[in-house]
Amino acid sequence: MRISENVLLLGNGHFNHYIVGQEQAALIEGGMSAGIPAFTQQWESLKPQPEVSHILALHSHFDHVCGIPAFRKMFTQAVVWASAGTEKLLSKDKVCNAIQLGDQLVSEVYLNDNRISEKLAPFDPALLKIDQVVGQGDVIDLGCGLTLEIIATPGHSSCSIAAYLPAEEVMFVSDAAGTAISPEVIAPVFFQDYDLYLDSIRRLMDYPTKVLAVGHGEVISGSDKVQSFYQRSLQSAQDAFEMIKNKLRAGASEEDLASQLYDQYMVGGLADYPKPIMLISLGQLIKNVAQRI
Ligand SMILES: [Fe+2]
Repeated sequence: MRISENVLLLGNGHFNHYIVGQEQAALIEGGMSAGIPAFTQQWESLKPQPEVSHILALHSHFDHVCGIPAFRKMFTQAVVWASAGTEKLLSKDKVCNAIQLGDQLVSEVYLNDNRISEKLAPFDPALLKIDQVVGQGDVIDLGCGLTLEIIATPGHSSCSIAAYLPAEEVMFVSDAAGTAISPEVIAPVFFQDYDLYLDSIRRLMDYPTKVLAVGHGEVISGSDKVQSFYQRSLQSAQDAFEMIKNKLRAGASEEDLASQLYDQYMVGGLADYPKPIMLISLGQLIKNVAQRI
């Protein structure tokens, strides 16, 4: 699906992948192995196909990097770009092996309910390696007048970046502005730091944006809708913070709260992820609040 003159959205509806550029192109978002069959089918029917010269991962969470090994095989000339934080994490064997295990578990969920037809072989963790580091203020030149400006967006994770395409006012935001789990609800995902998360969203709001190219689910089109998404995401985070603060003060345990947040927000595509991994992330979010009361 074309979301602007030079940007295509591919993927299975949960794992979004963006192709930016029509001759030379960047592939933004690494997704997971379970999303690769849908991507491949769409890619193969794409005429003409641009030459993918850049693969850009916007943060290191397992649901945003596990497609990279497959993409390296599909686009052998492409250079893989990410933040210094992502590069550092993915240079550790232990991290890559854990990420690969998570990837296999999600692929099993997809296989069990026939969303993919064949068992996927585990990828080589060495293929998660990042080739080039980018950070705040860097500009990636894609040729033909297209550039991507990198914006550091910590808060969801310390390694999060967004990429802004000024020529078409598209913001590739990954999970930095929250994850919409329905048209009405945006999950508050300040897994690293609450204040940094709010600050990142507020900074993103200053960029004129016609399309908010999110990591999961529906793309947000139209400047007013983009601003409304940011506002609702800020509100969702503030509401979650207050709710957690009040429950902790009333004596709720962090474990019970993590379970409650899991049931409330880990729905749709997020429910396919291994529960223990998501409970750890939600536990970090709760600790964030606990440190501030
Ligand atoms: Fe994430």
